[in-house]
Amino acid sequence: MTTVASRPSRSPRQAPVFSKDLLEGQVILVTGGGSGLGLSMSEGLCQAGAQVVICGRSPERLGQAAEKLRSLGGKAGAIPCDVRDAEQVAQLVAKTVESYGKIDGLINNAAGNFLCAAEDLSVGGFDAVVKIVLYGSVNTTLAVGRHLIARGAPGSVLSILTPYAWTGSAFVLPSSCAKAGVLAMTRSLAVEWGIYGIRCNAIAPGPFPTEGAWSRLVPDAAMIEGLAEQRVPMGRVGAHSELANLAVFLMSDASPYQNGDCVTIDGGSWLSGAGEFSEYTRYDRERLKTLFKAMRPKK
Ligand code: HXC
Ligand code: NAP
Repeated sequence: MTTVASRPSRSPRQAPVFSKDLLEGQVILVTGGGSGLGLSMSEGLCQAGAQVVICGRSPERLGQAAEKLRSLGGKAGAIPCDVRDAEQVAQLVAKTVESYGKIDGLINNAAGNFLCAAEDLSVGGFDAVVKIVLYGSVNTTLAVGRHLIARGAPGSVLSILTPYAWTGSAFVLPSSCAKAGVLAMTRSLAVEWGIYGIRCNAIAPGPFPTEGAWSRLVPDAAMIEGLAEQRVPMGRVGAHSELANLAVFLMSDASPYQNGDCVTIDGGSWLSGAGEFSEYTRYDRERLKTLFKAMRPKK
């Protein structure tokens, strides 16, 4: 009774979706761009012609990532920075402007996270995540925003959230609180900075395999397989290229009217847990239809 028929599906497109000059002349800062989804989005931005500047705490990892982007033909630089520290963020903006002339866009991607029962969480543990995610995103957004406003230039700020920014989630209390704060920042500044031509949007990804997330959030590989199969209507985790394409679109002039939005990319996952009767999708569909039919009033 609990079998789900295998799903017909399209494979994510691997070839570039956008023209090579979509982001030509744009300088885009990606926090946490040295690994995982930040690196994949940076690759997408490079393929669309942007000058990308990645930042993170580990200079070694950052240098290797920038080298990889350049080896693929991208224009990429790396500047170490801890986004928790507003002074380092001010330096990051100053150095980027000195090296590349300006900044046009920012992706707030840097994050910290771990699984912990709330009753076992220390003050330091809560601080560690909230300072990276919420304070970090505020620090970078205000610094880049000030630069754009001073230049009188339009710009785009994109923050990477997760659907539990609005649903909340067990075992990731600091991350839930921080991501909710970044969503509030996005919506607040979309209105406040619209007059300057600065667009603020967000993406809420569902599960996308990365070393950083999986090592901290998936205690056992079989658990995520089961989760994807049961929770995600599309029956699978996300592919990095799918997220990168969405990020490039939102950062580009292909979406100049998009402001204050949060686009979910999770295969329908969060909604599947919300609908009262969505659990029924786990049942064999023909058997389900027979049951529905049997419930119809007899004429
Ligand atoms: C409980 C923990 C902990 C854990 C650290 N702490 N890890 N508490 N469980 N697993 C506590 C420590 O005891 C300490 O508190 C405080 O946190 C700071 O610890 P440090 O190790 O000094 O922190 P720091 O070096 O700043 O590292 C930050 C970090 C780390 C968040 C803890 O994991 C990190 O650097 N993460 C960056 C990358 C990352 O997390 N990527 C995954 C993003 S995935 P006390 O009180 O003892 O001082 C993601 C996906 C979301 O966000 C959505 C999925 C669908
Ligand atoms: P990741 O590889 O661990 O990425 C996190 C990045 O943030 C790392 O490059 C890390 O580099 C950087 N970082 C952490 N603390 C920093 C700090 N204080 N200053 C500057 N940079 C810092 O994990 P990921 O899975 O790619 O996550 C990327 C983003 O996607 C995060 O916002 C995450 O919440 C979001 N997300 C991921 C998933 C998923 O399934 N993977 C789902 C939903 C949302 P350093 O350690 O070198 O600083």
